[in-house]
Amino acid sequence: MYAVLLLGLMATLRVALATTTHTFNWTTGWGMYNVDGVKDREVITCNGEFPWPDIKVNRGDRIVVYLNNGFTNANTSLHFHGLFQNGTSQMDGPPLVSQCPIAPNDTFIYNFTVPDNVGSYWYHSHVSGQYQDGMRGTLIIEEEGAVPYDYDEEVVVQLSEWYHDTTDVLINSFMNLYNPTGAEPIPQNLIINNTMNLTWNVEPDTTYLLRIINTGGFVSQYFWIEDHDLTVVEVDGVYTEQNTTDMLYITVAQRYSVLIHTKNDTSRNYAIMQKFDDTMLDVVPSDLQLNATSYMVYNSTTSLPSENYVDELDFLDDFYLVPYNKTELFDEPDYTITVDVAMDNLINGVNYAFFNNITYTTPKVPTLLTALSAGKNATDATVYGSNINAFVLEKDEVVEIVLNNLDSGTHPFHLHGHIFQVLVRDVEYDDTTHAFNADNHTAFPEYPMMRDTLYVRPQSNFVIRFKADNPGVWMFHCHIEWHLIQGLALILIEDPASIQSTASQQITENHKSVCKNVGVPYEGNAAANATDYLDLTGENIQLKTIPTGFTKKGIIAMVFSCLAGVLGLISIALYGLMDMEHVEEKVIEELHLDVDKVLAADDGTDEGANSSAAEKVSSD
Ligand code: C2O
Repeated sequence: MYAVLLLGLMATLRVALATTTHTFNWTTGWGMYNVDGVKDREVITCNGEFPWPDIKVNRGDRIVVYLNNGFTNANTSLHFHGLFQNGTSQMDGPPLVSQCPIAPNDTFIYNFTVPDNVGSYWYHSHVSGQYQDGMRGTLIIEEEGAVPYDYDEEVVVQLSEWYHDTTDVLINSFMNLYNPTGAEPIPQNLIINNTMNLTWNVEPDTTYLLRIINTGGFVSQYFWIEDHDLTVVEVDGVYTEQNTTDMLYITVAQRYSVLIHTKNDTSRNYAIMQKFDDTMLDVVPSDLQLNATSYMVYNSTTSLPSENYVDELDFLDDFYLVPYNKTELFDEPDYTITVDVAMDNLINGVNYAFFNNITYTTPKVPTLLTALSAGKNATDATVYGSNINAFVLEKDEVVEIVLNNLDSGTHPFHLHGHIFQVLVRDVEYDDTTHAFNADNHTAFPEYPMMRDTLYVRPQSNFVIRFKADNPGVWMFHCHIEWHLIQGLALILIEDPASIQSTASQQITENHKSVCKNVGVPYEGNAAANATDYLDLTGENIQLKTIPTGFTKKGIIAMVFSCLAGVLGLISIALYGLMDMEHVEEKVIEELHLDVDKVLAADDGTDEGANSSAAEKVSSD
């Protein structure tokens, strides 16, 4: 009897200690694939294949990825979305934040354990737009008994939008003088597990755990299954009290696990629906299919269902979810960061995105490596540069981020290295912008929902809180890849003294060599000054803003004048256009359209400066 007990105990201990190391050797490259069944296009391959592998590991396991950059002309990097990377922030992935970019032909070794995360995650390149070309996969971290509900089988569902052009082509026309409103490229389709019209064969009277992961770079999707309830039990690696709904709304980078109990009756099949949140599209082309249909198949000898229409997009509001472990609302904040989100044009006519008028502009040294090398100065935000929105957090303080969205779009914000509590997510206002009002707001929940990616509604606000208990350098950014490219990011430098004093945070030999090979210094402040950390001379800064008096139509008038040779000093606007043929004709042609639109939309403020500029355009 005792022997049996003892054996049982030893077996348990062995399970607890037996962590596995999963080693992956991945080389990036390009290959031609037809993902949506409509068009062949170049995608980013992993060891010559597509899609990238989906990974499952156990909590506590070690993951080692040798990421070999097989591109000929682009740097790369890999981020494991949602992992806390406690003590290993240099494995987090964003180039010039936590690491040097990986040059072609070079290899970065990501080597970390996953002791504090369980649930649904994913990994993706953190270099402009590469994951929209396919450099991404799902990552599930399991633990015996971690899901506090019973189910029979687990299925991973990866959602995304899909473009027929590669991201470099799309970025060129997006970050462009000819796109002054910053209209995001319109995707061609919605895909599911890297295909369309997927068939999912199910067993009757069975409970499935569906781990739904939106690995897209732009649009939120509505997701529902005809005549089947979805019971939410996890969001972003946080198990929740059960909440049953007909429909989910999933922004890019978010994850939802739902339980689905299948019917006893196998006489028919049901539609699995994805739908674009088309309010996020600047224009909805007439040929764009807003709904995509896949099939939940009980019976393969009977017909597939046609698409399922709904009258109302009545989806679950994640604000009201309660974490299973009922973490109480954190204490009043020690530090509050208030940021205003806005989109605007800089002097080159290109549309950028801003937190408090700063569009994230990469430093010359990765911020983590500045924190590691700056000694006592590491607690002074100055050393990280004036153009990355750097905020230094103190050990274990409660941090609150108040985000006011001055923009008319929905934005899904993601915080690296943490999950956060959601205290407020205000309703949508379409008349004017509503900033958070600390003296007049809805009551904070007792057990706030926690997750790592949260959307803010148009012209609205949210308030989140977390505890600064994870030393490292963490990005907070809009996960719409287009908006990250436009600079919608800020950087938290959390407890720099602990970063410096922890052995596992020190720069690895491999990392140093990656820096050398790509020509990025691994010591110094944002300006790469390693002697005087407070001297930022030569740091990268954003372009100038448009001179006062010019507003919407002003930029167009100014660029026009510039091209006509009147304002030769703004040569930066010309630079990118110099090698184009018939550039002036093209600009005149393009701008006449835009000018009309902009004149129509003019709000009539600061008329003086504008009207003369506008007249100049129209009279020409
Ligand atoms: Cu999926 Cu910077 O993150």
